[in-house]
Amino acid sequence: MPTVSLVHRPRRLRCAPNIRRLVRETRLAPEDLVLPLFIVPGEGVRKPVSSMPGVAQLSIDEALLVAREAADLELGGIILFGIPKIKDSVGSDAVDSQGIVQKAIRAIKAALPDLWVIADTCLCEYTDHAHCGILRGQEIDNDATLEVLGRAAVSYADAGVDMIAPSGMMDGMVGAIRHALDGAGHSGIPILSYAVKYASAYYGPFRDAAENTPTFGDRRAYQMDPANRREAIREAALDVEQGADWLMVKPGLAYMDILRELRDHFTLPLAVYNVSGEYAMVKAAAANGWIDEARVVMETLTGFKRAGADMILTYHALDAARWMRLS
Ligand code: PBG
Ligand code: ZN
Repeated sequence: MPTVSLVHRPRRLRCAPNIRRLVRETRLAPEDLVLPLFIVPGEGVRKPVSSMPGVAQLSIDEALLVAREAADLELGGIILFGIPKIKDSVGSDAVDSQGIVQKAIRAIKAALPDLWVIADTCLCEYTDHAHCGILRGQEIDNDATLEVLGRAAVSYADAGVDMIAPSGMMDGMVGAIRHALDGAGHSGIPILSYAVKYASAYYGPFRDAAENTPTFGDRRAYQMDPANRREAIREAALDVEQGADWLMVKPGLAYMDILRELRDHFTLPLAVYNVSGEYAMVKAAAANGWIDEARVVMETLTGFKRAGADMILTYHALDAARWMRLS
């Protein structure tokens, strides 16, 4: 006779791989992942981003090779960031039909029509001051910026992009882009809104990759205060009202509670951005042999899904998809 008589023994369902697989609640697949790409002018360019080992700025021909890998691994898609040759005060390249991202969209969609291509839609990579909008003095003119964002979205849609992802945290950006797209005959193009984007130090390495460090000040007058939760619901609700098709929370790790909050409040699909600083920390620890990179990455990505994300934007996407194939 056992000395204790336990009725409930959760370990019964944990004792071997076969039963653990049967009771697993969250599953990760390559199609959950979206790979960000940084597109630069030129040919044959693959310029490593020093703070993001494994990530490089790519010319369009090189980006095509990576996009093909993404398609072969059956990723959910890619998201494009353009770094133009010439930046100016109003971000002209962002709205130019011959702009860097427009060219990349055309090339990638021509070669890989089934790959889902998203265009990050913001002005900070295109303006010489690197703020996310049009300046009036030292301030960002919200409403003047909306007009430019609408034109940028239309030109990406004209180039053949599948989804527009405004990331600048301008008030009314989703509605303005929806209106512009509809007016240009693009009512079928969905909007993935960076609805809840915090002013985060975790974007540090991205600024090397996208060359968009503001020349003065910071983004706290438009990105959210990391201390705020209720405001996240308000931001998301406004974007839903304006016609967002998909909501994003960014960054990921320090904001898992916000992800869960939005999952519980809204019925739209949800995305999370596993940002550059989160990536860089994992890479640095792995390079030192301090963590098991594959296991840490899979655990983190699973955590995002468990918290409520349908789609994860991550620089680990290609590696993670390969690890899934192996396991
Ligand atoms: C710019 C933008 C940023 C990121 C995506 N779009 C940086 C910022 O707001 O400063 C960050 C992505 C990352 O850190 O991986 N609108
Ligand atoms: Zn921006």
